[in-house]
Amino acid sequence: MTETLPDLFMPPRLFAPGAAPAGLAAHHRRHGALPADDPESLLRAVTGSGLTGRGGAGFPTWRKLVAVTEAGRRTGRAPVVVANGAEGEPASRKDRTLLRLSPHLVLDGLQLAARTVGAGEAYLAVADGATWLETAVAERTGDQLPVKVVRVPGSFLAGQSSALARLLSGGAALPTHQRPPVRERGTHGAPTLVQNVETLAHLALVARYGADWYRTAGTAAQPGSVLCTVHAGGGEPRVVEAPYGLSLARLLPLEGVRAVLVGGYHGTWVPAREAAQLTLEASYLGAGVVAALPMDRCGPAETARVLRYLALRSAGQCGPCLNGLPRIAAAFRVLAAPGPQGTVRADLARWSGLVEGRGACHHPDGTVRLVRSALTTFADEIDAHARGRCTGTAPTPLLPVPEERN
Ligand SMILES: Cc1cc2nc3c(=O)[nH]c(=O)nc-3n(C[C@H](O)[C@H](O)[C@H](O)COP(=O)(O)O)c2cc1C
Ligand code: SF4
Repeated sequence: MTETLPDLFMPPRLFAPGAAPAGLAAHHRRHGALPADDPESLLRAVTGSGLTGRGGAGFPTWRKLVAVTEAGRRTGRAPVVVANGAEGEPASRKDRTLLRLSPHLVLDGLQLAARTVGAGEAYLAVADGATWLETAVAERTGDQLPVKVVRVPGSFLAGQSSALARLLSGGAALPTHQRPPVRERGTHGAPTLVQNVETLAHLALVARYGADWYRTAGTAAQPGSVLCTVHAGGGEPRVVEAPYGLSLARLLPLEGVRAVLVGGYHGTWVPAREAAQLTLEASYLGAGVVAALPMDRCGPAETARVLRYLALRSAGQCGPCLNGLPRIAAAFRVLAAPGPQGTVRADLARWSGLVEGRGACHHPDGTVRLVRSALTTFADEIDAHARGRCTGTAPTPLLPVPEERN
């Protein structure tokens, strides 16, 4: 497990100095007790802070809090709140690291979010570490709302919000058609607030220290800090807290790097020279995964492995996933090795257009984003493959793909 924070780009907010797991007493010594603010003050602080979701979409947190509160009033159902620690993205480590080192910040955020929306039930959903988190929950005898820790399958889709609502309602952890969205009708039909665990930890800090303090990190347009899982130079990835607006080149060295994957397996490949111009922004960061592809690796081959995984892990419930993603993954495999390519590039472009926007969830869209960015970023490598050559010399796979470990 990644539990060190070797790069300090700012005074750490989400972790205690030294990055040791913080029990409740240490947490209270550092941050004080849970603030007793009323829901209106909390909502004002969250709105003023500009806090956005850290689960991938970067959605403004205050808007979700308002939507769930209103849905609760309209329907007469007490909302359900869910701290999303599923972390289904195989290349991400930030949520499990946060839950291991600062569980009480997340649990504070969950209580505060529950208070803001007037929730009647609260869950913490995790794939790993449930026993440790149950101990942390048991320490908190003063909480208004009991929190149930639920185990979710360690799969790419289990952390999608409708999959979680379905699991908590007694079904499988697979996405459903989100009409209406879970924030209106989710767990057992109640309005459901699903919030990434890192978002909740930031919310707990905003409630204590205020919106102006929160904005002292980051930029005016994108305030605050963000946890990134950084894959660079081989070995275990590092989890780093960095302010939005930080140059990507400071986060990971770009010498000897061919391209950078930003935003994880639903993200985009960016050539290294373009990555050097980027700063950390929610719009492309997704759940905070950044991975440097060294010059000696084959970008198309790495992409083909990830696409195979994404196609296999789709729920296969909708046409785009059932028919489109396996074809796309198989076609990309042709581009990933030296040899004749026929009409594969044109086929990929056509199939990508056909699956986009047609799934019940955004899985096909995220997959297509990765395909398109690989086709442009690795155009030279794919041309070389067509001529029978590969510029990648290191055979070891770089990006973690779970079933290959089994
Ligand atoms: C295929 C898929 C998988 C997802 N997996 C996760 C996950 O593991 N953890 C997470 O926090 N959000 C995940 N999300 C995003 C959630 O649906 C939801 O938007 C998020 O938890 C909301 O929290 P936030 O507003 O705090 O970001 C996933 C989305 C999709 C489309
Ligand atoms: S689009 Fe794919 S992953 Fe999403 S619900 Fe449909 S089959 Fe499942």
